[in-house]
Amino acid sequence: MNTKETINSGVEFAELMKKVLADQFVLYVKARNYHWNVTGTQFYSLHTAFENIYNELADDIDKVAERIRALGLKAPGTMKEFWDLSSIEEKPGHYPDALVMVHEIINDFETIIENLNSSANKMQSSLNDEASAGMIYGFSEKYQKTVWMLKSMLEE
Ligand SMILES: [Fe+2]
Repeated sequence: MNTKETINSGVEFAELMKKVLADQFVLYVKARNYHWNVTGTQFYSLHTAFENIYNELADDIDKVAERIRALGLKAPGTMKEFWDLSSIEEKPGHYPDALVMVHEIINDFETIIENLNSSANKMQSSLNDEASAGMIYGFSEKYQKTVWMLKSMLEE
């Protein structure tokens, strides 16, 4: 790989990883919001489930940001950057019913899983970065398990 190719792949890598970080961060904030604001007969289990989700995302965010740094790039660290980069929707002032919260978190995880799989695929196939791809596929596998658990809560 020549210098120009190295720079280009660094830029492409940064774009993919920054987006992963931003999606995780916005969902982290939403899980906190729902942990605080959930109401109803399932309060306790959902309050706890949302806490588990944001704790897990907090660890993942750190791994992604530090992977970006380990490869010599700066990690985005402001709300504005996260918001501009993320594909996760927010609805300020909207406090849905408990089950709608669960549906929204499931949809968001499904969006993130799709983004993760396509980013990991590009890292592996065009950037030859197996280590980053492995990390990203690991998040995808873990979030698929979270989606299964959340969907199971909705079944009668
Ligand atoms: Fe709390």
